[in-house]
Amino acid sequence: MNAIATASSLSLPIFCRTSKLDTKRGLKGKFGVFAVFGEELEKKNSWGTIFDVEDPRLKVPLSKGKTLDVFQALEVARQDIQYCDWRARQDVLTIMLLHEKVVEVLNPLAREYKSIGTMKKDLAELQDELAEAHRQVHISETRVSTALDKLAYMEELVNDRLLQDRSTAEVDETSSSPSTSEKSVRTERRRKPRKRLNVSGPVQSYHPNLKNFWYPVAFSADLKDDTMIPMECFEEPWVIFRGKDGKPGCVQNTCAHRACPLHLGSVNEGRIQCPYHGWEYTTDGKCEKMPSTRMLNIKIKSVPCFEKEGMIWIWPGNDPPTATLPSLLPPSGFVVHAEIVMELPVEHGLLLDNLLDLAHAPFTHTSTFAKGWSVPSFVNFLTPASGLQGYWDPYPIDMEFRPPCMVLSTIGISKPGKLEGQSTKECATHLHQLHVCLPSSKHKTRLLYRMSLDFAPLLKHVPFMQHLWRHFAEQVLNEDLRLVLGQQERMNNGANVWNVPVTYDKLGIRYRLWRDALENGAKQLPFNT
Ligand code: FES
Ligand SMILES: [Fe+2]
Repeated sequence: MNAIATASSLSLPIFCRTSKLDTKRGLKGKFGVFAVFGEELEKKNSWGTIFDVEDPRLKVPLSKGKTLDVFQALEVARQDIQYCDWRARQDVLTIMLLHEKVVEVLNPLAREYKSIGTMKKDLAELQDELAEAHRQVHISETRVSTALDKLAYMEELVNDRLLQDRSTAEVDETSSSPSTSEKSVRTERRRKPRKRLNVSGPVQSYHPNLKNFWYPVAFSADLKDDTMIPMECFEEPWVIFRGKDGKPGCVQNTCAHRACPLHLGSVNEGRIQCPYHGWEYTTDGKCEKMPSTRMLNIKIKSVPCFEKEGMIWIWPGNDPPTATLPSLLPPSGFVVHAEIVMELPVEHGLLLDNLLDLAHAPFTHTSTFAKGWSVPSFVNFLTPASGLQGYWDPYPIDMEFRPPCMVLSTIGISKPGKLEGQSTKECATHLHQLHVCLPSSKHKTRLLYRMSLDFAPLLKHVPFMQHLWRHFAEQVLNEDLRLVLGQQERMNNGANVWNVPVTYDKLGIRYRLWRDALENGAKQLPFNT
């Protein structure tokens, strides 16, 4: 997003100032009311401070058709708000004066001087004017709401730009030692147009900062007392199993003796047994049995591991783990219908980029959930509450990026295939999705997918339903996967996968800004994370 794009996207529809219809109505209201009720206005001295506001249009140069920089565009939006304020005051004044006129017409003293016919005619005219005035108030309400939306949107764009500038500046600062001459060079550099987000080249080793989080690695339901779940996380092989007390543990999936994969063995009385020579390890990695030889004091690597809300979590980082684990449950009223795990051959950042984007749906998911969707004239992701959480316009879909690698979304469903044009709140039924993109290795992601519904609770008891959900999830992912694999190949060969970001790329860009800041050791992470 650059300043010109920002300004031009905001400057063109300067709604009320250039609207013929509104100008007409405004003038009609003004002259109609003031000409007829000029004297009444004089009497309303006590209201003077409220209504005696100058029409801001008289001071503002027309900006229609001009391309504005971001600060000019902000000024225009501020003037729009001023106009809305002035307009609203005029609307209220009109209604007040019309009401007074009605009272006057109905005044018993006035009635003595007027025929019933004249009074009826006066009242009918006043009724028309009142109806028009009420209509005008509704238009003003809509206008205010649009102006506020526009202002909030601009604020976000400006914040995005500032964030990107800041992140560029931080990279500059960490990559060179400070000196007076370099400082001035840096200051100069900051004045230049900002750098683009660059995600290109072979995937680098994972930054240690990215490991200092709780990561969900498996669903509780998949981990029985005597089963093991092998998985990779940050390029290391791990295996999860339950100890004697039923609590899960996560140890390296490599035997200390001769590096045999432990998950090929078995779990006996809460210990994992290597299939090669039978060494047995507890959930904290201690070797407690070494058959056929003298016992040695051996311990393999283990990481903090906990179970919460149906998921197994590990802390792969070197920093001490935080005391609380996040919650990823759907809102109350939802029932979990499917929990699916998939190993995908793409880097987790690329998969997150894909999941945080909805604009691709009518082009990519033409055989599945977006079949028959029309292509909207404008797609936007709005974030009124926090920087990483918001809703898609024009789709009834709320979405959130939850650091370090989660995407939560709620999809409003009215009729199958009819998603457009409503907010999730207006929909009676919803589907909630959780995607966890665990960084397995530079080219592999372990995807944990959980799907919940706030309707049809009995569906989960229908035989084979799990298989159907899995089939559907795989179909959707396959539509994405062939594209993301192509991106990965090009990225490895030097292409920037964030070469030309546009408005609807906001959430993906914000994820990348967050990750850049984390990996550059920023003291304060963006978006209050
Ligand atoms: S390799 Fe595991 S016990 Fe020998
Ligand atoms: Fe997709």
